[in-house]
Amino acid sequence: MTVTDQVGGVVISWGSSNLPDGSGEGPPLSQLGWEGAYLRLENGATEPGAVKPLFEVIAATAAFRPDGPLPIAIARFQYEVSQDHGPVETREAFFACGLLHDQWGLAQPAYRGHTVPFLVSEHFVLSNMGAPDAVELDPGDGGGFRAVQMGTPLVVTYGAGAGSAQVAVRCQYGTDIRLANFTLTLSAQPAAPVPDEAWPLKAENGNSGTAWVYHAHGASAISRPLIMVEGFPGGHPPDYLYDVLDQQGTAIALRDAGRDIVVVGLDQGMDLVQRNADVLVECIREAIKRTSQPLLVGGMSMGGLISRYALMAMEARGEQHNTDTFLSIDTPHAGTYTTLGAQWFVHTYLPMLPALAGYAALLDSPANQQFDIYWVHDGAVQTSPLREELVRDLAALGDYPKKPRLLAISSGRGDGARTAPAGAQTLAWSGEPWITAELHTLADGAAGVIGQGSWYQANPPELPSLSFDAGVAWEGAPGGQEPYNGQVAAIAAGVGCGSVVHAYDSTCTVPTVSALDLKQDPFTPVPAPGSGASPFADYAFSSDNEEHLTITPQVSAWLLGALGATVDGWNPATFNPHDLAFLADPYPTYIRFREHFPIYPVPLYATDWMFRYEDCQTVLTAKDVWIKNSPIGSAPAYGPYGAMANFPEGLFASDPPLHTQLREILEPMFNIVIQSAPGLARQFAGPLLATAKQHGRMELIQDYALPLPSSVLFALLGIPNDPGVWSGLITWQAAIAAAHDITQTPAVRGTGATCSMALNSFFEGMQLANDAKPTEGLFAQICDAFAKAGLSPQEVQMCAIDFLVAGYLSTTFIIGTGVRNLLLNPDQMSALRKDPSLVGNALEEMLRMDGPVQVIDRYAAVDTEVGGHAYPKGSKVTAVVGSADHDPAVFPDPEAFDIERSGEAHMAFGDGIHYCIGAPLVRLVGPVAIERLINEFPNLALDGDPQWQTDPYLRAVTNLPLRF
Ligand code: HEM
Repeated sequence: MTVTDQVGGVVISWGSSNLPDGSGEGPPLSQLGWEGAYLRLENGATEPGAVKPLFEVIAATAAFRPDGPLPIAIARFQYEVSQDHGPVETREAFFACGLLHDQWGLAQPAYRGHTVPFLVSEHFVLSNMGAPDAVELDPGDGGGFRAVQMGTPLVVTYGAGAGSAQVAVRCQYGTDIRLANFTLTLSAQPAAPVPDEAWPLKAENGNSGTAWVYHAHGASAISRPLIMVEGFPGGHPPDYLYDVLDQQGTAIALRDAGRDIVVVGLDQGMDLVQRNADVLVECIREAIKRTSQPLLVGGMSMGGLISRYALMAMEARGEQHNTDTFLSIDTPHAGTYTTLGAQWFVHTYLPMLPALAGYAALLDSPANQQFDIYWVHDGAVQTSPLREELVRDLAALGDYPKKPRLLAISSGRGDGARTAPAGAQTLAWSGEPWITAELHTLADGAAGVIGQGSWYQANPPELPSLSFDAGVAWEGAPGGQEPYNGQVAAIAAGVGCGSVVHAYDSTCTVPTVSALDLKQDPFTPVPAPGSGASPFADYAFSSDNEEHLTITPQVSAWLLGALGATVDGWNPATFNPHDLAFLADPYPTYIRFREHFPIYPVPLYATDWMFRYEDCQTVLTAKDVWIKNSPIGSAPAYGPYGAMANFPEGLFASDPPLHTQLREILEPMFNIVIQSAPGLARQFAGPLLATAKQHGRMELIQDYALPLPSSVLFALLGIPNDPGVWSGLITWQAAIAAAHDITQTPAVRGTGATCSMALNSFFEGMQLANDAKPTEGLFAQICDAFAKAGLSPQEVQMCAIDFLVAGYLSTTFIIGTGVRNLLLNPDQMSALRKDPSLVGNALEEMLRMDGPVQVIDRYAAVDTEVGGHAYPKGSKVTAVVGSADHDPAVFPDPEAFDIERSGEAHMAFGDGIHYCIGAPLVRLVGPVAIERLINEFPNLALDGDPQWQTDPYLRAVTNLPLRF
């Protein structure tokens, strides 16, 4: 055949050439249908550049998110057709379609969402005949055709239930009109989130990439990042990479558990592993600049080799990589198997099918040569020298990084079961007159035919065939699958000549033994982790042979467990400190946190909770590092509290030097005044117990635990002994305590704030009365001492409020939980009855076991670090002293209530400079209160369930019925 006067440099000289012609006839195209039609034009291109390669068109879609503007690719080409040496005919092809980039896990790319901004863009006008003069779109929403401007999206909203849309595109070229139809699949699955940060990465060797950062939920700074570098051939958009990691909601669970997700894209993903490792090194350096927390570094597929190499190279240079865990997902550590039949087909048919050029470039790229165990080159099966060099380089660096814990995932089975049979036919293409191909899987332990075929234009038409003896039938090995055979079948079918029969479309590409780097026959079962057979300390594989890079539900659960993101199905991200079950018994939750997430973010309070004794102690005692007031300012005070914002701080809320000054004045005075407390306690306890006895039953809190310590405190402070005053103060105080719970209604919180202000006025009045006529008690002493020290009347009021707010209610609380614990542990109750001198020690155990103050906040005065977590100046953290006091590292058998326990001090009164000033008073009043109660009632018992208050900062029963 001779083709004269070629039109547009496209000649389709074989097979089906009835491409859509713009008459609008024929079924609407799917995206894959559009790509198939376009490939046929590409295969017919006789001049370079006549048809832009499909892979370049698809690559351009990477800039678009699957829930963003949808580019519409419009193809209009003139081409020549010559069949069976017949006359040359000129035809025109016209077809259009919305083009989405490859989306993880979706066979058919789908638009994510139901509001679609259709975009006609000159970048997606593909033609050898020029651009249209006008474009109209009928999105299939019932509104008919609408004119669209180049570059201006037409936004259309479909019903939420719609699974697809039928779209028509009408283009005008002069007086000619062309019409195309396509189907757009719509999906309710949300697209990956938009990255929070993007770090450009540039290695010294010139290779580059981008790190896309998705913050942990509730975090704004870098937090325990999981850095995963992409696999071959690079250039994937970030939302694809995120979707790979988010299979089964894995990325969401990790972000819930306080980890950032960082996906690293490579600009030269087909380049050598060693060179792209330098790009990842840049990312690790960027992460280390931002956080001192340990990193988790790894990669998907080839990315696992890149990260393995990068970490080893850093170790070899003595450079810190600060990585405590390495993770590879279906990485060909011992090589990948790319179906030899497909390789042979691509190379052998390339001269006749130019569209195979992109595929051939992938196969021959340096990276592919490095990880493929068998590379078809120059018509023979080889091991590339580049692979040999990589294997040598990895070995020279020590094979695996030494510092991190090594974790691996395989997408294949672990039972050694064979998938595709050895020597089986995967493709039989009998095209007429002479286009044929026949492909087979690898034979088992023998030479077998891999590929043979013919092409009528070739000279001779019989093409060079390929036979090979690999020894092992890798294609049927268990492992992550790739549809190489299916792709070849689709290419053959696309030629439109003859019949194509195909089987075993997806076969093994990353054998399980390679993903786990096991030096064993791929057809034998994988040993359990820890056997020493694999360099990986722990690993998981799928229960079936899944598509390469698949993370199954079981593997996801394993990964989350291995990374400490769930514990026996418990996800810490679901932790709600206001959950009623947690408030009733927080200790099992504390155990889980202490063991698995000793420091964990609690977004509701914008703070990290610290569950271990050591970390709590650090925060409470490092007085120059952890302070009460944020050095960068705090949010405005809630509601009416705002009116008090300019009052000075009292003892509780101040930092040195004011705190030091206040404490030095108050503490000695307080310690003298409280000496009368035991007598007062005995005096008040008698009538309360007598009244209860008369009633025959008792509600511990209202009848005893509240009135007793409040009366003692009011008497010590010198508050006039007037039932109206004392009960009024108790009411206000109850309202203040209720308002501390930030989940309460505005009315409750507002009332608490107004009661604080009322308390302020009350003390102002007492102050004025003391000025007029000196009064008795601690309050009067504070007034005088503060005046002498030059402190203001407001400072007096604030400190007096501290004493009133902190001074009895927590004693009420400890009597409540303490008596309950005694009654729940009859052996301890009888030990105490037998030896009343144990009561002081019993009080300490009550405080350790079930202390009234569970959590204490602090702010970082400077940039600092606790437990491997970095805290920039102004960070808020919370010492969970209720958990610290159950830390088995400090308290043996911590869940046991043992009134004879001795040893390390609990932190129920805090630690450091703010250690509770009232502790000596509690130690005087508490034992009297408990001793009097149990002496009075030898048969004391619980009489119903308690009620728990709803503020996680405090632990208290609000109601405890007792009988006796
Ligand atoms: C069982 C009873 C009590 C418990 C569990 C308790 C607990 C605590 C804790 C944990 C702190 C430290 C807070 C922090 O570091 O931010 C503290 C501080 C304080 N407590 Fe208590 N307390 C109790 C009883 C009392 C009593 C009876 C008074 C006064 C009569 C009192 C007055 C104070 C004051 C004024 C502070 C601030 C001390 C400072 O910042 O220097 N507390 N308390």
